[in-house]
Amino acid sequence: MLDLLITHASLPDGRTDMSVAVREGRIVEVTQGLAAPAARTVDAAGQLLSPHFCDPHFHMDATLSYGLPRVNESGTLLEGIALWGELKPLLTADALVERALAYCDWAVAKGLLAVRTHVDTSDPSLLAVDALLEVKRRVAPYLDLQLVAFPQDGVLRTKGGVDSLKRALDKGVDVVGGIPHFERTMADGAASVKLLCEIAAERGQLVDMHCDESDDPLSRHIETLAFETQRLGLQGRVTGSHCTSMHSMDNYYVSKLLPLIAESGVSVIANPLINITLQGRHDTYPKRRGMTRVPELMNQGVNVAFGHDCVMDPWYGMGSGDMLEVAHMGLHVAQMTSQAGIRRCFEAVTTNAARLMHLPRYGIEDGADASFVLLQARDPVEAIRLRATRLMVFRRGRLLAETPATTAALHLDGRPTATSWMPAQGARPVR
Ligand code: FE2
Repeated sequence: MLDLLITHASLPDGRTDMSVAVREGRIVEVTQGLAAPAARTVDAAGQLLSPHFCDPHFHMDATLSYGLPRVNESGTLLEGIALWGELKPLLTADALVERALAYCDWAVAKGLLAVRTHVDTSDPSLLAVDALLEVKRRVAPYLDLQLVAFPQDGVLRTKGGVDSLKRALDKGVDVVGGIPHFERTMADGAASVKLLCEIAAERGQLVDMHCDESDDPLSRHIETLAFETQRLGLQGRVTGSHCTSMHSMDNYYVSKLLPLIAESGVSVIANPLINITLQGRHDTYPKRRGMTRVPELMNQGVNVAFGHDCVMDPWYGMGSGDMLEVAHMGLHVAQMTSQAGIRRCFEAVTTNAARLMHLPRYGIEDGADASFVLLQARDPVEAIRLRATRLMVFRRGRLLAETPATTAALHLDGRPTATSWMPAQGARPVR
């Protein structure tokens, strides 16, 4: 007897009419046309069953604080950081936990069941660290929360910064973070990368650094990050987040840099919504888009994922935890509009993100966790186009959230009585 059987599902790899059988929280079989007794059977009716969404880059200590104590007038990264500095003394652990839990509710409803969040370690009291460790414990039954020790004000620039970061790691923070482009000098930035990678290597931890979140084409800390990754044998364990300076770099230098990143096994996270918002703010016209070179990195074999980064905080007033919105913006900014390109954007918020987060048992396959989302769409391209409704969200076989299908009733003479914005099957391109 199965606990759950999904029938007639389409899968992201293009297989259709698939059955997915679940027992004790795990997928035990993925095959066509399985009929077996199950405690619950769901007929997917040809719609897409995807592994759950993953957000590999977020700031949960700041989320849902938009307008506190004021909004970011210039819209720049630097005013955002200054504004966060104004907010920090006003933060209470209770309010922070409450906002984070509310955000996790939004995330679950959107099929987002794994989030890597940076947590600011610049404040020696580590109030935000303690609060997010509490959130991690409380959401563990329904969402995987991974914490990154993030020295927002610069690990070397802040007095006692290294000590605070190490204490955060001792408390149970999972990943070593950094922000080399915010250190006082390029040399200090490079020194911070070396130091933080050494700390991670010593402790056997992963690294995820904000790296070159700048329009400065000479901000090249990603080069140091790739070098240190190789020197310390950290291949496959290190991520460079943002890397927006690559947008503005000299093409000849990038032709050397891309293979270095690929060789080092460093993953890259672009944050399309935030990059298009914060970068290029010092430009007149033309205004740069600022996002890193996503298709070029992917073509080199680099694992590239998309993050949400911010939702309703000092840097960004929009968002709802919808990783399809992130993928939608990503494909526009990167001009990845081919069928293959759109599918790669879907992977950037699912499998690629899961890979860099080292999530075990991820995917729609035998032995994986039964943590998946049924979308009101027939394939990944349609899912992104419609930012499709999450009909059902399961984690380890347990139903966590449901949303009714989105349909508009029409009152038009001689026309259908409803629409869900889906063309007839024949109007969809062949893969
Ligand atoms: Fe960030």
